[in-house]
Amino acid sequence: MAPLRDLFVAAAVAAVGNAAQDWDHSLFTNSPPVYPSPNMTGVEASGLSGWEAAMQKAEAFTNNLTLEEKAVMLTGAPGPCVGNIAPIPRVGFKGLCLQDGPLAVRQADYASAFPAGLSAAASWDRDLIHLRGKYIAEEFKGKGSQVFLGPVAGPLGRSGYNGRNWEGFSPDPYLTGVAMEESILGVQSVGVQANAKHWIAYEQETQRNPEEAFDPNAVPYDEQIMSVSSNLDDRTMHELYVWPFANAVRAGVASVMCSYNRINGSYACQNSKTQNGILKGELGFQGYIMSDWMGTHSGVASIEAGLDMNMPGGISFKPTLPGVPTYFGANLTEAVNNGTVPEWRVNDMVRRVMTPYFLLGQDKDFPLVDPSMGEYPSVNEFDKQDGWYDDWNKAKALGEPDVDVRANHSKLIRELGAAGIVLLKNENNTLPLKAPKRIGVFGNAAGDLTTGLYYHDKNYEYGCLPVGGGSGSARLNYVVSPLEAIKEQAKKDGTNVQYILNNTQLTTSGGFLKQIYPQPDVCLVFVKTWASEGEDRTTLHLDWDGDDVVTEVARNCSNTVVITNSGGLNVLPWADNENVTAILAAHLPGNEIGNSILDVLYGNVNPSGKLPYTIAHEVSDYDFANVTREVADPKDTNAWQADFEERLLIDYRYFDYHNLSVAFPFGHGLSYTSFELADLAITPVSNASAAGLPKAVAKAAPGGNPALWDTLYTATATVTNSGDLPGAAVPQLYVRLPAAAGEGTPLRQLRGFEKVPLEKGEQKQVRFELMRRDLSVWDVVAQEWRVPEGEFVVSVGFSSRDFRDEKTFTI
Ligand code: BGC
Repeated sequence: MAPLRDLFVAAAVAAVGNAAQDWDHSLFTNSPPVYPSPNMTGVEASGLSGWEAAMQKAEAFTNNLTLEEKAVMLTGAPGPCVGNIAPIPRVGFKGLCLQDGPLAVRQADYASAFPAGLSAAASWDRDLIHLRGKYIAEEFKGKGSQVFLGPVAGPLGRSGYNGRNWEGFSPDPYLTGVAMEESILGVQSVGVQANAKHWIAYEQETQRNPEEAFDPNAVPYDEQIMSVSSNLDDRTMHELYVWPFANAVRAGVASVMCSYNRINGSYACQNSKTQNGILKGELGFQGYIMSDWMGTHSGVASIEAGLDMNMPGGISFKPTLPGVPTYFGANLTEAVNNGTVPEWRVNDMVRRVMTPYFLLGQDKDFPLVDPSMGEYPSVNEFDKQDGWYDDWNKAKALGEPDVDVRANHSKLIRELGAAGIVLLKNENNTLPLKAPKRIGVFGNAAGDLTTGLYYHDKNYEYGCLPVGGGSGSARLNYVVSPLEAIKEQAKKDGTNVQYILNNTQLTTSGGFLKQIYPQPDVCLVFVKTWASEGEDRTTLHLDWDGDDVVTEVARNCSNTVVITNSGGLNVLPWADNENVTAILAAHLPGNEIGNSILDVLYGNVNPSGKLPYTIAHEVSDYDFANVTREVADPKDTNAWQADFEERLLIDYRYFDYHNLSVAFPFGHGLSYTSFELADLAITPVSNASAAGLPKAVAKAAPGGNPALWDTLYTATATVTNSGDLPGAAVPQLYVRLPAAAGEGTPLRQLRGFEKVPLEKGEQKQVRFELMRRDLSVWDVVAQEWRVPEGEFVVSVGFSSRDFRDEKTFTI
């Protein structure tokens, strides 16, 4: 696709190069047109082969359909799942069942709740992330769902306040890119389609939808207050937000979900630059783009801008929700019949939907939909009344109810839950616990849930926090609370366990002194922070007066261990309190939350989790420019604007660039043993000059120009377990680009990591591959990745601020 020299690019040229430069909002209010929507070509993805042959099958399938049937294939319909493509019995097609995602078959019975993306990221463990994807997909398949709505790379985590950061992985695009790739490879390896969501620059929940999205008849369309516009320059778009999606496309992801927000003024699901231009053009994406639920705001315009499937849809004679416009369905057939939309485009849409279906063998022996996948109240209740059950039954698309798909997945859930726990502080070797005589357990996040196991829409006071809220939540078919796990262990050790789970009692009425006797040897404080889709967090502090609970317990107990469960980052104002001897950031571990935490507390597992974000000293240290909360003129339909003025400088990139001290750096995490890292060596892979642009290719392969994934240099280093226990280290590699990368370029960026298990005294060589993209910047004029000339500094260490060796090379 020809490079675009347009406003978007001009704006980007003007804007990047000087991070200190003033932001000119007017440069970012237009998203350039890119038409027509590229046809799929069947080029292989490196992560999944067979596209060409599957495309032929999809082609034959498409040719056999009437126009009305094609519309059915592209329009969500009533049915048993969160999203449904209706069966077409005439051609033996049993329909598609799309389910949330991304940590469970969300509303299903007899299914698992896996650790959240945030926990997976904190494990920095490619193999466990891969296995998580595989097991989740096995559960999807067992329940008859062809499409897993996950994994998540948007939000990336520009702001720590975002209510959905935990569904995805990390604000670092490299770490998120690896996690996306491993998740997708795992999911699709068992014949389930993955869906990379939400495309793109979807970085806040506040005003994510237009004011009247769910009742558009109430206000005429052109008077609706539009959803927030994420305004960003082209370089930031590529180097942060597109980056992990490129990994997803390269892995062969079947589908991508466009997001609710606008991008540079244009709705994501009808943004031709991001869909036709970047995703299908530059990244060579071969699958289909589906809309987020009610994220479609036009028919013809969206179709021309690259949207392939409308969710949850609604065919005009059978709307999914009362009053919701049905932009596809019968409107699509009409648009073709009256010549507004060319039929070749509709054929490409159907081919894109059906190619992954054939590629993953979903036409053969795929289990039928388990009809007991529970209540998704407003949709399924309405649908049932509307007779979907009969339709799906007649099409022989429904299977047995209540299928137990959990197999032995609890083992991985427990293991990954523990692997995603980060030991932030451990004074006097407080941890691991050694069969203490007396334990005190405190805080409202220690015990069992008291308000139900499918509490996905509200911050509840009592109970541990295994998962966050919203569509990314899960029906908990069981949960092991921390208190339960500790009591079990205490029975074995003969430990006395006392507890107070009421935070108000602890903070306001001297609860500790009145209740606790004898004095515990160790006080375990369980505190939490809720985060959910649909709302941004209002604070980075703990909920339910958690900070006061910690301070109060620490005032009474000189050996206080704090365990946080949180849907994102927290500031920890009490971290330096000398009575707080250890801190665990335990994230969102899923069903086995209590056992995962127990394993780390007692040393059954040596902690190896690392922070996938930065913890600052204070909230005001962060530069979360704007999760926009208020607008000057509430009647201005275009009032909601989020200017990504910080450009490339999010999370550690910001703190490093401005040389600011932090409480706990990105990549940090302690172990019960110690590690050394040395002997960094760097070798060029070929003698050919790496500088400049990659050789142009006629057709982009999935993931973009294949040369971007060529290894240009390898780096090796030696990691040693120098302590007394077996454990796993996570050596990390950061690259500092030469000055030619331009002002505003982050000082250092993560470009490699590996999880290395080591016995006591063991030594291993670790190897990192630096690919062309890893050493490049996005050149907004050339519209390609460019390797800047000059000196590259490569540092290896155990966090973004703990380097053990450094080498340079010059290109
Ligand atoms: C969310 C998606 C989800 C969909 C279906 C939307 O509100 O943004 O992530 O897949 O609902 O539940």
